[in-house]
Amino acid sequence: MSFTVAIDGPAAAGKGTISRAVAAHFGFAHLDTGLLYRAVGARMLDGLDPVEAAQTLDPASLERDDLRSPAVSQAASKVAPIPEVRAALLDFQRAFAARAGGAVLDGRDIGTVICPDAPVKLFVTASDTVRAERRYRELAEKGVETTFDEVLAEMQERDRRDSERAAAPLKPAKDAVVLDTSQMSIDEAVAAAVAAIEERRG
Ligand code: CDP
Ligand code: CDP
Repeated sequence: MSFTVAIDGPAAAGKGTISRAVAAHFGFAHLDTGLLYRAVGARMLDGLDPVEAAQTLDPASLERDDLRSPAVSQAASKVAPIPEVRAALLDFQRAFAARAGGAVLDGRDIGTVICPDAPVKLFVTASDTVRAERRYRELAEKGVETTFDEVLAEMQERDRRDSERAAAPLKPAKDAVVLDTSQMSIDEAVAAAVAAIEERRG
């Protein structure tokens, strides 16, 4: 039987970290849908038309190791408002959500557009400065040369673009549980997510 957990929220809120832990805890499959938009963005930077890139996206290209760079983050949020790009990625995400044994999908529009009937929806968020600090630390550990102010500005620009676009804007679904992780450790955030899922799973 399928069971979908939808996790949405702004950049660097902890969606991926929580999704991976929850998937491991319950034995669910996990799809980071941001990677789909990042892969399309990366192909646009390579010179491809974004709609064509989305329509011909090979799931194997999600393994490209440059997908987490700030340049690709920006490119992803520039291709994401294009309705034809979103439409091309829809079936893959819905099929993933429907797989037997349970699935966790994280992104921006999982609870609102991709899986509006998901039994569990979490909207993970944190203050701008906390999120920028987390992302800055992550990039610094990977050896990416950047500053806190650059990371904060990149993140705020992307959040604004994601929230203000007409197609599938970033916003909590009406029935989402909002999880503000500003003051939470990773373990605390994961425990809160596990509890919310257990409550709805019965
Ligand atoms: O997927 P998303 O962009 O929402 O965030 P992430 O990649 O899961 O988390 C961004 C960074 O914040 C990672 O380095 C996490 O280890 C860290 N994090 C944290 O410090 N505290 C949390 N409660 C959640 C994540
Ligand atoms: O890890 P982080 O939260 O910084 O970004 P991501 O989840 O990898 O998403 C990268 C970009 O893809 C976002 O800024 C959105 O523009 C777009 N995206 C989207 O539009 N819809 C999704 N379901 C997931 C990502």
